[in-house]
Amino acid sequence: MSRDCRLTINGKIVTAAPGVTLLDAALQGGIVLPQDCCTGQCGTCRVDVLAGAVDAAGTEERGSVLACQARLTGEAEIHFDPVPSVMKTGGTVTSVRDLAGEIVEVVVEVTKPVPYLPGQYVKVEFAGFPARDYSPTLTLDGLREINQLVFHIRRMDDGIVSAALGTGIAPGRKIKVRGPFGHAFLRRGEGRIVLVSTGTGFAPAWSIAVAARLGQPHRPVHLIASARDPRNLYMRPAMDWLAKHGVTEITMAASGANPLPPARHGRATHFLPVFSPDDTVFACGAPEMVAEVRTAALAAGARFYADPFLPSGGDIPLGMKIRNFFSGKPRKTSPVHAQIDALAESLGRTKT
Ligand SMILES: Cc1cc2nc3c(=O)[nH]c(=O)nc-3n(C[C@H](O)[C@H](O)[C@H](O)COP(=O)(O)OP(=O)(O)OC[C@H]3O[C@@H](n4cnc5c(N)ncnc54)[C@H](O)[C@@H]3O)c2cc1C
Ligand code: FES
Repeated sequence: MSRDCRLTINGKIVTAAPGVTLLDAALQGGIVLPQDCCTGQCGTCRVDVLAGAVDAAGTEERGSVLACQARLTGEAEIHFDPVPSVMKTGGTVTSVRDLAGEIVEVVVEVTKPVPYLPGQYVKVEFAGFPARDYSPTLTLDGLREINQLVFHIRRMDDGIVSAALGTGIAPGRKIKVRGPFGHAFLRRGEGRIVLVSTGTGFAPAWSIAVAARLGQPHRPVHLIASARDPRNLYMRPAMDWLAKHGVTEITMAASGANPLPPARHGRATHFLPVFSPDDTVFACGAPEMVAEVRTAALAAGARFYADPFLPSGGDIPLGMKIRNFFSGKPRKTSPVHAQIDALAESLGRTKT
């Protein structure tokens, strides 16, 4: 009978039988790795293999593997980027303000601060409306109070939630917030940060850009912000802030018509820089753009992160939508989700 293997996870040792996935081994040792789909599709559970060997099950990428697929074969050491636990809080809308074109800034005051990492998203339920995913960000002058969440939301004429901004959803409206979620968040590290956004994908890009400039000012930032309709290039004041804070590589672009200079005519992907293996690339917004940037970034050996803005689709989980988008294979429901929820509850955390 083969002996249990030792797996070191962020310095903590767990033991599990050979052949067990890294996600299960961690769980058996009381550690919940970040996860979503548990079927090898979303990429949320990607961990770095620091020492030893694992059966990567075909998921090896730049010394990292997907923990829900890779299996123990012997002693190994892995590392994952810790994320804040998912929590719930309530709050009240304090301001709804048109920024430009179809873009609205919504500010809410929350009862408990939500400890999100720059680039993550939360689930917001305005009272009387279904929940939607939004990326908390900053006002266009780079500000946010600790008990506030600031959102940039595109108003869609037929949108159940966004069409009600300023009418059904106005100051005083109660909200529920759950989160944070997502893995496209800023990590400390070295090398250039490249941010590519379409529309309100600028919300997470702006959050990451400001945190990077204030936290690691020596890291070059290259930002491309785009919209189809030039009137939706609402981020011009934010670009001024970035220029004042030493960011020289800034492009605004609109594909639908000629925008006012310095914005340029074209799609975001027309203006991509040449990527290098030292780059960390974030693509924020429309799934089609995300797919194009992902291909270019991975081909150059760069690190790549994205939580694409997929339309809400009834009860379909986000991991499944990401999987559908990237591969088209059917998603199997994993029993790991039930185990994780049970463990999370026993640790006093909110279910995901
Ligand atoms: C991880 C993540 C983060 C997000 N962050 C933001 C954010 O910060 N700001 C923001 O404005 N939106 C964001 N979204 C999109 C947001 O969750 C909603 O999908 C969007 O606001 C539309 O909701 P609605 O109720 O107004 O429209 P719905 O009633 O859900 O849809 C109305 C119509 O618009 C289409 N539609 C819905 N969403 C999209 C979309 N994203 N792209 C293209 N067509 C769409 C639908 O197919 C439908 O035809 C994010 C989505 C995800 C998955
Ligand atoms: S790829 Fe492992 S949790 Fe989604």
